Amino acid sequence: MTAPVQSSFVAADAQAIAGLGGRVAVFLDEEGRLDPAARRLDARARGLLRRVATSDAFARLKPGEGLTLAFPSGLAAEALLAVKLPRKATPAQARKAGATIAGFNAEAPLSVVAGRAPQLAEIALGLTLRAYDFREFRTPEKDWRAPNDAVTFHVRDPGAAAAAWAPREAVAEGVLLTRDLVNLPANVLTTIAFAERLEALRDLGVEVEVLDEAAIRALGMRALLGVSQGSESPPRVVAMRWNGGGDDAAPLALVGKGVVFDTGGISIKPAAGMEDMTMDMGGAGVVAGVMHAIAARGARANVVGLVGLVENMPDGKAQRPGDVVRSMKGDTIEVINTDAEGRLVLADVLWYAQERFAPRAIIDLATLTGACIIALGHEMAGVFASDDVLANQFLAAAAEEEEGAWRLPLAASYDRQIKSRVADVANTGGRPAGSVTAARFLRRFVRDEVPWIHLDIAGVASLSRDHELGPKGATGWGVRTLDRLIRVRFEA
Ligand code: BES
Ligand code: MN
Ligand code: ZN
Repeated sequence: MTAPVQSSFVAADAQAIAGLGGRVAVFLDEEGRLDPAARRLDARARGLLRRVATSDAFARLKPGEGLTLAFPSGLAAEALLAVKLPRKATPAQARKAGATIAGFNAEAPLSVVAGRAPQLAEIALGLTLRAYDFREFRTPEKDWRAPNDAVTFHVRDPGAAAAAWAPREAVAEGVLLTRDLVNLPANVLTTIAFAERLEALRDLGVEVEVLDEAAIRALGMRALLGVSQGSESPPRVVAMRWNGGGDDAAPLALVGKGVVFDTGGISIKPAAGMEDMTMDMGGAGVVAGVMHAIAARGARANVVGLVGLVENMPDGKAQRPGDVVRSMKGDTIEVINTDAEGRLVLADVLWYAQERFAPRAIIDLATLTGACIIALGHEMAGVFASDDVLANQFLAAAAEEEEGAWRLPLAASYDRQIKSRVADVANTGGRPAGSVTAARFLRRFVRDEVPWIHLDIAGVASLSRDHELGPKGATGWGVRTLDRLIRVRFEA
């Protein structure tokens, strides 16, 4: 995994602060007031921060933004970053401040004179997420130097700060794991390699069970196998179990679409943009990230993560349009379009999740439909839910974490679009409401009494531009929201 920037917290000592070298960030509140630690720095810098505080430039800053001051006289530091952070900063403002500090990080040691600043854990989270950079396949150029990979926060109460940061650091690691998995190309992250990376979660105390092709066949997952049969990479279904909530409680099941590459199969996709389909395992990537997060922070909840790992390739052995397959549940499916493969994979993994683990609720995640991008763009994931209470708790968690999510309909009337002439159901429903018909297809494979959410993350799993908390590429969308939902709804 890409190593996160390491945050550590030390007691704000006046002497040490005055002598800091390297790059130094400091906070001013919205009125430009300095806390005692910042005043110490200001005294050494001959009132530089007070001048900043009364400037128009500072007045124009939004909360979380900053002004960079190079070679401040009186200080050993090569640069100072003055960040506007309200005394009662919201978590979102604090994450933004952290992201601003990440942008200020360079080769020199980085110190944050935080003193009594609020929301330290959210500041560190924003910093860690924005500092992420997927460098695995980039050969360093001659004069290139890696940015420094540690930051020291000088705070009034280091013990409290470290305690608040520990669970958020676990979440940050989970987000970074998801981003790495989603960013990895399909020649590296094959089905087998993906399963191996999930096995590494055992180090955190997660029970990991890997089903190979024979086991998958024995279970009757022929919808999943049909997608996989054109690929040289064998399918895998991986179940990851975290039992932090004792032996009795039924688990929450997280189910992820893990198509390591989606060519479309025989219904092949156009060449332009096909390379993006390396992210078609994004749902499985989020499941992995959440499992990492909850295990690393020792969540008191029972959660099982399941992923269906396949590759959708055209081949002499590949499934054809018109083929009919029988799912593990027993329903037959007419495969109208081999590019509507995600729902075929999820149908069997959803059913297996219920047969094997009798979960109290299920949340699936999938880069399922281009139609979801047409509906919601890249700002929000589509939320389809069978249960209003769970849906509202999910949406509240997403709002707190600022991960865009919007509920879309799941009405039974859409089922007319996925009627099949020859089988129980068809795998496509035409262009109108393509995300809804995909969700309705999945609905058949979730028992009525199990509260269920389907998240279509096609538009949010990976972005073609930088964003507030990360660079272009994989976002890790959903890890933070699901970790929070587990904390508020599923922990003892
Ligand atoms: N993986 C794609 C959906 C997708 C598209 C994800 C763009 C991310 C970005 C999915 O397997 C797919 O191909 N869906 C088809 C369904 C159609 C054939 C009914 C689609 O959306 O076009
Ligand atoms: Mn597809
Ligand atoms: Zn796909």
